[in-house]
Amino acid sequence: MNRIITILLAGFETSLPIGTISIAVLAIFLSYFVWHQYGCPRISCINSYAGDWSRKRARQAFLERGQQLLAEGAKRYGDEPFRIITTLGERIILPKSCIHWVEGHSDLDHQAQVAEEFMGAYPGFEGIGAFNDPNRFVIDLVKKKMSSLTAPMLSTFYEEAIAVLDEEFGDSNEFRRIDWAVICSRLTSRISAAIFAGGILAKDPRWQNVTQTYTSNLFQACRALRAWPAPLRPIVVWYLKECKVCRDQIAEARKILAEHQFGTAERDTAFTWMDPRADPVIVQLALAAGALHTTSQLLNQALLDLAYAASDGQSVVDQLQKEFGTCLEASGGKILPSTLPKMNIMEACIKETQRLKPQTLTNLDRLALKAVVLPNGVRVPKGTMISVNQATMWDADTWGEDALVWDPMRWFEPGTTELGRERLVNSSDRHFAFGKGRFICPGRLLVNGELKVALGVILDGWEVRLCKEDYEEAKKKGRGRVDWVPFGFEMLADGRAGVEVRRR
Ligand code: HEM
Repeated sequence: MNRIITILLAGFETSLPIGTISIAVLAIFLSYFVWHQYGCPRISCINSYAGDWSRKRARQAFLERGQQLLAEGAKRYGDEPFRIITTLGERIILPKSCIHWVEGHSDLDHQAQVAEEFMGAYPGFEGIGAFNDPNRFVIDLVKKKMSSLTAPMLSTFYEEAIAVLDEEFGDSNEFRRIDWAVICSRLTSRISAAIFAGGILAKDPRWQNVTQTYTSNLFQACRALRAWPAPLRPIVVWYLKECKVCRDQIAEARKILAEHQFGTAERDTAFTWMDPRADPVIVQLALAAGALHTTSQLLNQALLDLAYAASDGQSVVDQLQKEFGTCLEASGGKILPSTLPKMNIMEACIKETQRLKPQTLTNLDRLALKAVVLPNGVRVPKGTMISVNQATMWDADTWGEDALVWDPMRWFEPGTTELGRERLVNSSDRHFAFGKGRFICPGRLLVNGELKVALGVILDGWEVRLCKEDYEEAKKKGRGRVDWVPFGFEMLADGRAGVEVRRR
């Protein structure tokens, strides 16, 4: 054998290093390509095209027409699974009939899926990797300390929301256009940080910048790293500028926290609640990655839907203002834990917004920890990514003719109708935006508190409406709302929608 290798390499004697390196790199590329092309399970793919060797066209189709591809897959394959090529690899999409199968399967894991898909094992990506830490520092912290809101937490939200909104919305009696997308991220970040990191850091612009941008930088770094074959990633991660940005941000966060002598200044923040063995910087960045983009996206769309309703002359905004006023009066001007369940109209509005824009087109994202047999009998290998199509949340079979129309009254009459008993924090087979089963989002109670407080403060203090042109454009579509913007599986609130406010 050694002789054969010696003979084979003999011809390369003069250019041995370059030749050997080229062959090795080629072999790595080929094996990666073959694995990708043929090693995946034998399930039909909805976006594979003849001659699209680099998968460029497949990825483009995914980014631009994710929703249509899912609808096409559901129509073509009915109750059977199908595959889709995404910018982050491949997924198997299961129909809604598989929700319970996924929910209860012990070999399908969510934390491993997040870490694998978003490169959690690489330097700079620790904020994502923390979700898959066997010590469960982040998950247990959220579960134990943030899944029931206390009076001090709610008053922190309330005070922080008033401070941010006074500053951003101003006191003008005339309607003026605001940059709602930017203000919404800032508001979410400030009120969340007040609980995660305390009031001092929440107001530090450098801290705000790091925590607000770490997640989007992570996504970019993830895309850049994924463009390389897996065996080369441990090397290229040190050279890609997108990955360096994330490492630099972690270093910057450490510096800021050291200056603030974290953990000693304030009580009742994630610093004081977290396990002393945890790395406080990584826990903070993980909280930011899990909480900020998701919550801000829901708040963003919720206000757009209410601004549309106000422009449309619907009575729901008046009702919300009265509801918030009555709730505050009953609790002596404070928001208490007992106040939140009384905000029934607000609850219905947010639940309806989330039904139509639940953040992503698929949910129950899982990684197969071992080879598993799908409900249709097909065996898929360890490492397969699986998701459930979330289209049931807006399909006509479940919701009737007006399935795509924003109508919060579907959820109203709490306790008296079947839908009325489903609260924002509950999950069901027809509305599972927070996931289901053992991995259900533990941050959903925080979301419930943050959104009700933020929207209550906004509607209490300001009149809000859509710019005339945006209202008229949305009205033409007949869905009673501003449409979200697609980006792969992501459903993004339209950052260009014009919102106007004036002091009440
Ligand atoms: C509107 C905002 C949010 C949405 C739509 C959302 C959605 C989700 C979803 C779909 C999952 C996976 C559930 C599953 O696959 O069954 C999840 C998990 C998780 N979420 Fe959220 N989330 C939101 C806000 C938050 C917040 C504010 C926090 C933290 C304070 C948080 C922390 C977590 C954690 C730690 C997990 C992992 C749970 C586990 O693996 O056991 N989320 N979230």
